[in-house]
Amino acid sequence: MNDPRDASPHPVDPTSRPDPSSGAVRPVSSAPANVPPVRDPHDPSDGPVNAPTPRPAAARANVAVSARFEPQTPASVVPHQPGAAIVETTTPPADTPPATGYAEETGADPYVSRETPTREEDDPPLAMEAMRAVQILNPSGEVSMPRPDRTRVMCVANQKGGVGKTTTTVNLAVALALHGNRVLVVDLDPQGNASTGLNVPHHTGVPDVYDCLIDSVPLAEVAQAVEGIPNLWCVPATIDLAGAEIELVSVVARESRLSRAIEAYPGHFDYVFIDCPPSLGLLTVNALVAAQEVLIPIQCEYYALEGLNQLINNINLVRQHLNPKLEVSTILLTMYDRRTRLADAVEQDVRNHFGDKVLQAVIPRNVRVSEAPSYGQSVMTYDPGSRGATSYFEAAQEIAERGVKEPVSRNA
Ligand SMILES: Nc1ncnc2c1ncn2[C@@H]1O[C@H](COP(=O)(O)OP(=O)(O)O)[C@@H](O)[C@H]1O
Ligand SMILES: [Mg+2]
Repeated sequence: MNDPRDASPHPVDPTSRPDPSSGAVRPVSSAPANVPPVRDPHDPSDGPVNAPTPRPAAARANVAVSARFEPQTPASVVPHQPGAAIVETTTPPADTPPATGYAEETGADPYVSRETPTREEDDPPLAMEAMRAVQILNPSGEVSMPRPDRTRVMCVANQKGGVGKTTTTVNLAVALALHGNRVLVVDLDPQGNASTGLNVPHHTGVPDVYDCLIDSVPLAEVAQAVEGIPNLWCVPATIDLAGAEIELVSVVARESRLSRAIEAYPGHFDYVFIDCPPSLGLLTVNALVAAQEVLIPIQCEYYALEGLNQLINNINLVRQHLNPKLEVSTILLTMYDRRTRLADAVEQDVRNHFGDKVLQAVIPRNVRVSEAPSYGQSVMTYDPGSRGATSYFEAAQEIAERGVKEPVSRNA
C-alpha cells in the first residue's frame, strides 16, 4: 500500500468554494433578489432531494416491518432522484445579494440561521455532485462493491462519545447495502441512535437486541428490514437495553451472548456492523467477542488519542481470553476540518501509529452528515452528492476491497 503520507488524502478541490472567513452563508436558491432566502429546516421542500418530512413518533410505530431476512429487490429502494440534486443547488442569479449584512440592509428576519447553509463551502461542484449522487445511490442495484467470502462482523467501538461511531455504522452499512452487500446493523447502544438514523422503530415494547442478549430470542425475530434500502436490516435498541449491562452480570456466558446470536446465521450476511455504546462495559465486550474486526472511528480533535490505549488494552484482553480472531482492522478519521492544522496533526499522529489500518478516505466535518438523522436517513440517501456522502462511500469501498484481498490472513 502506498505510504499515506505521500499523498494528501484530502485533495483540495480547486473549484470548491473558498469562503468561510465572512462566516456568512451564501444562500443558494433561485429566489429573486428582493425575497429573503429563508430556509426552513423543517420544510422538506426546502431540503435536499431525498429528505422526507420527519415522521412523528406515532407514525413510526406503525412501520414495524415483519419480513425478516428475505432479500429485497432494488425496486424497493426509495425513489431516489439524483438528477434533482441539480435543482436543489442551482446557482443563484447574479443579482442575488450576498448574505453578509443582508438582514440589516433589507430588514429581513434576523433570526435566519447562518449555521445551516444550503451547501457547505467545501461541497463538490454541481456536475460532479450529481454524478457522484448517481454513483452512490446505484439505482440499478448491481454489486459494485465486492462481497466478502464470509460474513465480516465489524464492531464499531471507541469508548469516547460523539466521535462518529453511530454515524459511521449507519453510513457504511447503507453504502455497502446500496452496492449489493447484505448488511445487518446491530444497535448495541441503549440510546438507540443507529435505530433512529435508519428510521427503525425502537420505542418501548419493540422487540430488540435486549431480547437477544437476555432472553436468547433469535436475531431474525427482532431484526427489521430498513425501509427504502434493499439488503439492509437492523436489530434495534430500546431503552430496555440500559438495564442489560447489569442484568448480563448474572447470565450464563454473559460475554458471548451476542456472538451466539450472530453465529446462528452463518453466511446470511456479508457484513454485520455492531454500533457500540460509549463505554467498555459488558455490552462492548459482547460486541468484541462477536466480531472478527474492530473499526475505530477517531475524531480529528485534540484528546482524540487519549483513552485509545484503554480500548486497545481491552481488545487485547478479549483476544487473549475470549476471541482469538479479534483484530483492529480499520481506523477511520472522522469530522476532519481541513481548515485547521490540528486536524492535520491528529491525522499524522494516527497514521504514524496505526499505519495502513487507517483508511485513506477521511470523513470531513459536513453539516449534511449531522442533518441526515433528523430525517431518519443516512447522508448517503439524504444528500448523496455531499462531501460527507462521498467520503463515506469511499470508506465503504476501501473496506469492501480490503476484505476481499486478505479474506483469511486478516482474521487469522
Ligand atoms: N462528519 C460529520 N460532520 C458533522 N457532524 C458529524 C459528523 N459525524 C458525526 N457528526 C455528528 O456528531 C454527533 C456525534 O456523532 P455520533 O455518530 O452519534 O457519535 P457516537 O456514536 O460516537 O457517539 C452527532 O450529532 C452526529 O450527527
Ligand atoms: Mg453512538
